[in-house]
Amino acid sequence: MRVAFCCTDTKAQPWLEGLRAALPGSVVEDWSPGASCADYAVVWAPPQPFFDEQTTLKGIFNIGAGVDALVKSRLPAGAAVVRLDDAGMSVQMAEYVCHAVIRHFRQFDGYEADVAGGKWSYRKPLDRADFSIGVMGLGVLGERVALALKQFEFPVLGWSGSAKAIKGVQCFSGDDRFQLFLASVRILVCLLPLTPETENIMCRANLTQLMPDAYVINVARGAHLVDDDLLALIDSGRLAGATLDVFRQEPLPAAHPFWSHPKITVTPHTSARTLRAESIAQIAAKIMSMHNGAPLSSIAGVVDAKKGY
Ligand code: NAP
Ligand code: GLV
Repeated sequence: MRVAFCCTDTKAQPWLEGLRAALPGSVVEDWSPGASCADYAVVWAPPQPFFDEQTTLKGIFNIGAGVDALVKSRLPAGAAVVRLDDAGMSVQMAEYVCHAVIRHFRQFDGYEADVAGGKWSYRKPLDRADFSIGVMGLGVLGERVALALKQFEFPVLGWSGSAKAIKGVQCFSGDDRFQLFLASVRILVCLLPLTPETENIMCRANLTQLMPDAYVINVARGAHLVDDDLLALIDSGRLAGATLDVFRQEPLPAAHPFWSHPKITVTPHTSARTLRAESIAQIAAKIMSMHNGAPLSSIAGVVDAKKGY
């Protein structure tokens, strides 16, 4: 069995060593143009020539959860695309979102500013019943985030494509329930995959359906958010602010107003990092399953080409 590794912006050597150790007897090589055709590929943002040459792939394993960039490529016919299924990301995402929610709800940003100015002062405690949190996307990451938020006794709502039942979470599904969901949300968390249906979902028309003084946390993809709409709604006082981990252009350009906006916190796409050891173990186990003839339906994270995630 041959495995081709082609990951942009990733140090290849530790991945190659890990994959070789986890797949004894197989040939695992860093791809370069003209390389032999492989059976499986482990990829992140590979260039189109990689797929044009690798015509015999049976499985393409993405070393991330989001496959929005990958599914735009011309892929070899018959190759299954498989994304990471948690692999240590959901706990990181829960930490990040809980931190952002609690920082806003407990007004720690305000306290940080006070302390920086040498000021000892108290802010009125807020009522958590007024801070209902709505999680868009109740998949592997969204469900874990919703359950973690519930531990802090916030009212938690969720919205997904298909109907879900998550204990303690008020679940909405489908386009016809979207406005109803938004109208009950004070803190909106985006954990949707980026698809033609979800692109620009956080636009003025939808953001103005949220409760007054709402707060936005985007940890999915930059193109879910219309940047200028967010800025205008924060500047007009309709929204309270935002925590953003993902951007239309990454790295976020130096001149982008998000960097210096007093009500916007930015982080460099770091809310849930790919963990190498966990990811290699998961991918190697799935490669072995496919190689041994397991049906695709038994493998978690196989992308539905029609849905795009
Ligand atoms: P997932 O398991 O595939 O879950 C996606 C969820 O979104 C599902 O509940 C799905 O509904 C819902 N959904 C998709 N399209 C929808 C639509 N049009 N309307 C309503 N709901 C819709 O994905 P995941 O593993 O949780 O990851 C989610 C996203 O997080 C990734 O795609 C990636 O973009 C992002 N991410 C970001 C980072 C970071 O560091 N910032 C790290 C990892 C992932 P169904 O349940 O009905 O399918
Ligand atoms: C990171 O953004 C991922 O999709 O895993």
